Amino acid sequence: MSNLTPREIVSELDRYIIGQTAAKRAVAIALRNRWRRQQVHTDLRDEITPKNIILIGPTGVGKTEIARRLARLAQAPFVKVEASKFTEVGYVGRDVESMVRDLVEASLALVREEEEAKVRIRAAERAEDRLVVLLQGGGTRAPGVGFSPPPAARMTDAEREKLRAQLRAGTLDDRVVELDVQDVPAGVLRGFSGPGLDEMGANLAEMFKSIPGMQRTRRRTVGVGEALRLLEREESERLVDQDRVTREALQRAETSGIIFIDEIDKIASREGAHMGGPDVSREGVQRDILPIVEGSTVTTKYGQVKTDHVLFIAAGAFHVSKPSDLIPELQGRFPIRVELEPLGRADLVRILREPKNSLLRQYTALLETEGLRLHFTDDAIEELAAVAQSVNERTQNIGARRLHTVLERLLDEVSFSASDPGAPRDEQVDAAYVRRRLAAVVEDEDLSRYIL
Ligand SMILES: Nc1ncnc2c1ncn2[C@@H]1O[C@H](COP(=O)(O)OP(=O)(O)OP(=O)(O)O)[C@@H](O)[C@H]1O
Ligand SMILES: [Mg+2]
Repeated sequence: MSNLTPREIVSELDRYIIGQTAAKRAVAIALRNRWRRQQVHTDLRDEITPKNIILIGPTGVGKTEIARRLARLAQAPFVKVEASKFTEVGYVGRDVESMVRDLVEASLALVREEEEAKVRIRAAERAEDRLVVLLQGGGTRAPGVGFSPPPAARMTDAEREKLRAQLRAGTLDDRVVELDVQDVPAGVLRGFSGPGLDEMGANLAEMFKSIPGMQRTRRRTVGVGEALRLLEREESERLVDQDRVTREALQRAETSGIIFIDEIDKIASREGAHMGGPDVSREGVQRDILPIVEGSTVTTKYGQVKTDHVLFIAAGAFHVSKPSDLIPELQGRFPIRVELEPLGRADLVRILREPKNSLLRQYTALLETEGLRLHFTDDAIEELAAVAQSVNERTQNIGARRLHTVLERLLDEVSFSASDPGAPRDEQVDAAYVRRRLAAVVEDEDLSRYIL
């Protein structure tokens, strides 16, 4: 997966994002270049600096979406941070390292999920074995965690298989069993949050776990389905080598992590004096971010992470400031600049119609759960795009996000009454329907501002 060619990457991105070819090409090249750089002989490799990107474009045209899809495509750990948050009161320079810590967390989640998928079948088998033993006594006084199965010896194979068959057939679903489950005491950790403290809170959670008495084992009575779920969790935790997960996660963050720095334009203006107040200066934030982008070693609770090969994608509207307002060192680290196009009516039509996850598909699927078949005619789609475009022009251009508010409004009535008994099973949405539902709001500019 990590060696997709630029062309392959672009064509995958095309399935979700309409247009924005230049941006897709740029991220595809950047991703491939990281891979290329890793293939180069060590002597030269260290001389090649990573080619990070700035995506420039108005709101709602796909900047975040492109980065997110790219990460998913590459199965790369991904985090998104708002650069402006580092200018908030209470942040100090070192807090920018939190983006790397978050990347490691994302990486851990990703790797853990992969590893768990690999043992899923075995964990399910083992959970079932244990549950069969628990069910043997009809569900009374059952041993739980850490239990090794002497009682099973008392069960013949035939008995076991019979129980197993019943379990699978669902005839035991109304039974309950007793299980010992391990509990992190809730409440103990409440109150530990806030910048910088998150990290501490997480460490404390680990610490409490190792204090005898802090980790409670609770005996719970649960239904068969719940028991199976709990046991599967436990077995899968046992089967997965947690140390390996951590090692792999650190490595994955280093070699294929993607950090998306949003609103970079908000820290670009070099005088930020007019902001006043106790804000950390914007240039200060740039200087704090710089070492991370240049490549440094960040300590996390799982170990050290080098950021040399992390891919940084920055994004911003740059209405007021320009990339040239960034400090020169940072400009140098983001040599690739791409502009995203504002979306026009034709793009909006395609955004409604084409992506695998398009809003129309989403709403149709939602209402299908109520037994309602929603059908959009072509002229309805054209009309919707026209409405969105017109509101974007007359109020504020929020790009494809406008489609969300427009569709929500359009389907307000159907969404409300679809669950009623006797509600229609089929709903045809055509241009007339769109006009009927939206005309009043669209024509009234003040109303549009609030509703669409
Ligand atoms: N070109 C596009 N093709 C398909 N969907 C798009 C496109 N542009 C935006 N969208 C949809 O619009 C929504 C917002 O897009 P996105 O989050 O990428 O905006 P953005 O460019 O990052 O804006 P902002 O600057 O406000 O963060 C998403 O739901 C996304 O799916
Ligand atoms: Mg965004």
